[in-house]
Amino acid sequence: MSERIEINEVSPRDGLQMEKAFVPTENKIAYVDALSACGFARIEVTSYTSPKAIPTLADADAVMAGIRRVPGVRYTALVPNLRGMERAVEGRPDEINLVMSVSETHNRANLRMTREQSLAGLQDVLREAGKLGLPCNVSLSTAFGCPFEGEIAQAEVLRLAQALADSGAAGITACDTTGMAHPEQVRQLSTVLQRQLQIPVTIHLHNTRGMGLANALAAYGAGIRRFDAASGGLGGCPYAPGASGNVSTEELVHMFDSMGCETGVDVDKLLEVVGTLSGLVGRPVTSQLAQAGTRLRRYAPPAWLAEKFPHA
Ligand code: COA
Ligand code: ZN
Repeated sequence: MSERIEINEVSPRDGLQMEKAFVPTENKIAYVDALSACGFARIEVTSYTSPKAIPTLADADAVMAGIRRVPGVRYTALVPNLRGMERAVEGRPDEINLVMSVSETHNRANLRMTREQSLAGLQDVLREAGKLGLPCNVSLSTAFGCPFEGEIAQAEVLRLAQALADSGAAGITACDTTGMAHPEQVRQLSTVLQRQLQIPVTIHLHNTRGMGLANALAAYGAGIRRFDAASGGLGGCPYAPGASGNVSTEELVHMFDSMGCETGVDVDKLLEVVGTLSGLVGRPVTSQLAQAGTRLRRYAPPAWLAEKFPHA
């Protein structure tokens, strides 16, 4: 098996948006530059949101201006409205990632608009971006469940995804904002979204309840070949109660590597970057894979074995 999988590294955006400490701009730039050497299909560098809503990413313009771009990596940024798109254009992203929620309550809490206002606003963005030739992916938050409303109807995900595809979205991402998804649900939604849409579908998972990799595998089994993930399992939406980190990129890449899939990501380089995360965010970041090493890591046998089995 040598299936090609696109890994979108979202930690500079999803990973840093909820951190307590503001990461200095130059450190964000150095972090994105280090990620650029790892082989990602995309890096979500920042978000062009209101600095009141997301103060930790208030330096979006400076970060986008400061990074060194590696050919082959697509640099993207999250955009919630037309004002965000106008700012984003100045930063010359390769594409942008628009956002709204499937849940009415989460959309209001996160974006301070109704879903219909968001939808209309994003349709304006799609039209304006289309004139500039700027591709727009759209991320649908709470597609697998909402911490305010509970279950989210699959039909609502399909309705919004279709409306946005019809308005010119280049791709749709189904987001499990607070880790409510389970593998069977992921398999079903992945299948129907791909059947209905003519554009690529990405799955964005959080490991809040420990089902991140199981869900990724279910999506893969249903034909999904694009995944969002965050190094060190950073991440979370500050306007979704109970949110915690994304599925960790190093664990996702390591799983797909083990299965013989091509991610393009150099896991050893990535683990070096993961080793810098605690310093970056100013708190301990634990990574199971960084602790254990990759699966074929070998240890020297106990010294006494040579004495007990001298001829073996
Ligand atoms: N970038 C920068 N500033 C923005 C902006 C943007 N994209 N959109 C609006 N603003 C500014 C306005 O200029 C205005 O500034 P002022 O107070 O100095 O006049 C202020 O924000 C309020 O504008 P308004 O249109 O009323 O926005 P709002 O307060 O209703 O907030 C959003 C709407 C969408 C901008 C805000 O909720 C937001 O940025 N949410 C993002 C949440 C997020 O990223 N969550 C995690 C990812 S899922
Ligand atoms: Zn997320």
